[in-house]
Amino acid sequence: MKIQPSDQPLLEWAGDSLAIGLFEDAVELTGELATLDQKFSGVLKELIAEEEFKGKANSTIFTRVNAGSPVRKLILVGLGKPDALKADTLRCAAAAVARIGKKQKSKILGFSFPLWNNDPATSAQAIAEGVELALYQDIRFKSEPEEKGSPIESVDLLGFGGQEVAITRANQIVSGVNLARQLVAAPANAVTPITLAETAQAIAKEYGLEVKILEKEDCEKLGMGAFLGVAQASELPPKFIHLTYKAEGTPKKKLAIIGKGVTFDSGGLNIKGAGSGIETMKMDMGGAAATLGAAKAIAQIKPDVEVHFISAVAENMISGRAMHPGDILTASNGKTIEVNNTDAEGRLTLADALVYADKLGLDAIVDLATLTGANIIALGEDIAGLYTPDDGVASQIEKAAETSGEKIWRMPMEEKYFEGLKSGIADMKNTGPRPGGSITAALFLKQFVKETPWAHLDIAGPVWTEKENGYNGAGATGYGVRTLVNWVLGIEELVGRGN
Ligand code: BES
Ligand code: MN
Ligand code: ZN
Repeated sequence: MKIQPSDQPLLEWAGDSLAIGLFEDAVELTGELATLDQKFSGVLKELIAEEEFKGKANSTIFTRVNAGSPVRKLILVGLGKPDALKADTLRCAAAAVARIGKKQKSKILGFSFPLWNNDPATSAQAIAEGVELALYQDIRFKSEPEEKGSPIESVDLLGFGGQEVAITRANQIVSGVNLARQLVAAPANAVTPITLAETAQAIAKEYGLEVKILEKEDCEKLGMGAFLGVAQASELPPKFIHLTYKAEGTPKKKLAIIGKGVTFDSGGLNIKGAGSGIETMKMDMGGAAATLGAAKAIAQIKPDVEVHFISAVAENMISGRAMHPGDILTASNGKTIEVNNTDAEGRLTLADALVYADKLGLDAIVDLATLTGANIIALGEDIAGLYTPDDGVASQIEKAAETSGEKIWRMPMEEKYFEGLKSGIADMKNTGPRPGGSITAALFLKQFVKETPWAHLDIAGPVWTEKENGYNGAGATGYGVRTLVNWVLGIEELVGRGN
């Protein structure tokens, strides 16, 4: 499928389906749309009246036009109130159109959408992302795919002439999102610490990144007792992934993105019971998946920023070698941890990854983790929790998420709650009381960052969706990749302006 910007006049466009975006309560046809309606003998006006189409966000209607006319179908998509228009509204509307186009077997699709914020580049990018993300299909594990691939061959973005760069940007980003979706959706017998490390190596090779995989012995030498404690019951070896993207010139800033990479979370000896969703715990490497997806996208975009992509990857299993609840581990910064619950394993793996990144002398670190069920209880399935003591990094991430449309909400780092992690025998416990469980998890992580401005995103909810949601089909969403890319590019831009 090729998405192309076009300056062809709406009235001259020919193809299978023409999609028109309309604002809420502004569906009376004026100007070019009135002429278009006349061209199709008033079918648009009739359709709007018959279907009582009001232009509400996410509403769609479509109709067949006269046989022999240069456009076979017209699709109307609501954009909501003009004041409330966001880049993400265009992304979701484009996704809805792409799904209809696919169902209707359209080969050539045209879009007549308004601009968001008078910004043709961001708007074109959002529309292209919406189309591509919505048409993603995962048939890797079907012996015979029941669903056909998309028939859409070409997509014209009318009025977006000259926006080739924005569309290329969308392609680069979507390639990263789809990698993350594939990694999260693949089961734990396909994505293991070994295969995830291989994926990192393949990205490095294809896009020219530096890659270092630390083996168990290397991690032992670095004293990564917290990470290795989680890994020790598994038959599979742990892998510590460190990919580096280096800018061509002197980098304006140096950043790290860290992802929780637990390829399966059984809970360990505090095993997840019936009804705990243990069968979904292949998704517990969603942070690592977003990290690798962002690496893939950033390596193609080539910003003037150095970025380190890090994940301490392991399975949380049970065996005769498993951690006992109550074991004391020593992390690579020398801190001792009483493991009062082996199911709070993500923070143990992240502890050593954070210590490692903190020593690299960077300007900021962001970690992403499917860390707690408590975050889902607090914010629901769609919203990630943002935890950071640093207002600067918080506003960078909030801004990045605003354009990506990935929902986040900043949560408090209530220091007093650290009392819940006090241990009588070690420096701290890994698990606090149930209330505020996502906050104590973030406070635990904070113990392992000394120098560097840092933020943590708890993505336990949004990595996965049970049903189709915006541009995501049911299943893995690739959550985080687009916000991370925007964060890195936003920092490049900020520094460019002398900050
Ligand atoms: N991987 C889970 C968190 C999770 C839960 C992710 C649901 C996605 C969906 C994490 O390792 C975990 O088990 N957390 C425990 C922590 C508790 C033992 C303090 C939880 O949230 O119950
Ligand atoms: Mn767990
Ligand atoms: Zn986990």
